[in-house]
Amino acid sequence: MTARAERRAAPKPARIPRATKGPLRVPGDRPPYSADEGRRLAIRADLLDFTADPGWETPGDASPGLRWRPDHWLLIEQGRIAGVQREAPDATWPTEDHRGRLLLPGFIDTHVHMPQLEVIASYGTALLDWLETYTFPAELRYADPQVCAAGASRFLDALLAHGTTSAVVFPTVHKASAEALFAAAEARGMRVIAGKCLMDRHAPPALTDTLQSAERDSVELIERWHGRARLAYAHTVRFAPTSTDAQLALAGRLLAAYPGTYMQTHVAEHRDELRWVAELFPSARSYLDVYDREGLIGARSVLAHGIWLDDADRALLARHGAQIAHSPSSNLFLGSGLMDWRATEAAGTSVSLASDVGGGTSLSMWRTMADAYKVQAMRGERLSAWKALHAATRGAAVALGLEREIGSFDVGCVADLALWQYAAGPVDAVRDAAATSLHERLFALMTLGDERNLLASYVAGRSSYVAA
Ligand code: GUN
Ligand code: ZN
Repeated sequence: MTARAERRAAPKPARIPRATKGPLRVPGDRPPYSADEGRRLAIRADLLDFTADPGWETPGDASPGLRWRPDHWLLIEQGRIAGVQREAPDATWPTEDHRGRLLLPGFIDTHVHMPQLEVIASYGTALLDWLETYTFPAELRYADPQVCAAGASRFLDALLAHGTTSAVVFPTVHKASAEALFAAAEARGMRVIAGKCLMDRHAPPALTDTLQSAERDSVELIERWHGRARLAYAHTVRFAPTSTDAQLALAGRLLAAYPGTYMQTHVAEHRDELRWVAELFPSARSYLDVYDREGLIGARSVLAHGIWLDDADRALLARHGAQIAHSPSSNLFLGSGLMDWRATEAAGTSVSLASDVGGGTSLSMWRTMADAYKVQAMRGERLSAWKALHAATRGAAVALGLEREIGSFDVGCVADLALWQYAAGPVDAVRDAAATSLHERLFALMTLGDERNLLASYVAGRSSYVAA
């Protein structure tokens, strides 16, 4: 069916019911997340975080925005950061002494697919064939709520075992998959932004919704989960080809109707996809315009990839405060292209980092950063460890409007943390020992490190993963 015929055949959109229980809470404007008041912990380690974007200048050990506090104590009260100090706290504080280890804010993965652990590392295809051959069949299994529950737990535990404590996540089209993800995130106290996938065409029939079911399921999920614990709802348009115009319009209306909700999708990832979008939406100026004309581009819009954007697209993203979730591992693995980080940022658009598993080949944000370095090297640019680490922590938090909650050791932020060893094997140990500057040391860790370097993760000051 052509796009125009689909538009004619689309049923008239229903009215979107408003939330009935007073104003929606915006995650980030909430009291501290903590079940047990008065909980305290002091952690001794090398503390590294950022107060601002370090930019593209040659990195030094005193680069702007870098906050390096070696052998300091991080004080946590009621799940939030209460302070940082050089001296040991008084004897009333429970302590963990990890001197000689590196403590970072927990990583933020701004684009990752819960049901795709099963298809990570699948051979031989580019985006559109990969979706059909591997991804859609895997996602079909999430029609079963038991598969959803097991998949959500496995997925979030895997994130924590990679030092990632917050994520913007695609479940599947099934309402049960979003339910399971939110419930599992709430049980772990994690900050997760997600929503059921909207896709009403160009996918196996069992993996499509309808205008009516999409609206009903979205509204029910928003009212149940948005603003609860540390969760937020994202209207999750899979990508333009799998939504009719009517469904894109529905997503735009839902985004406008529910303040504080996010929108996530894919844009301009692969050239074959671009050609298809141009055929499906002949009146759109560009791929991004397909979303923009339905009101889907705003300050809470997270668009994965953005490789094949033009200057007008980048300016539009900047005007609306939307962000690109750069997914270098996926872009290399699927052969999609080399994202122009500097042009995107020069236009005023934030760039965060994302694993995009299972297009991406690792949940590790270290590996993602290393791939980002290689992508930029292919473009003739050099990505410092500072720039990459900022994008995976505070930069992502700022782009999501959550910098008062996550991404740094600022007093008041939730104590979502990851504790790392600088080297996990003989090769990175010898490289680490040879480093003569802080940046050299961290750049080697970024290039060689992965989840094997992780010692522990903490969510809201509570231990959520300890390496065996
Ligand atoms: N475009 C539409 N769906 C997907 C997906 O699951 N992964 C990636 N990388 N791109 C997509
Ligand atoms: Zn993706």
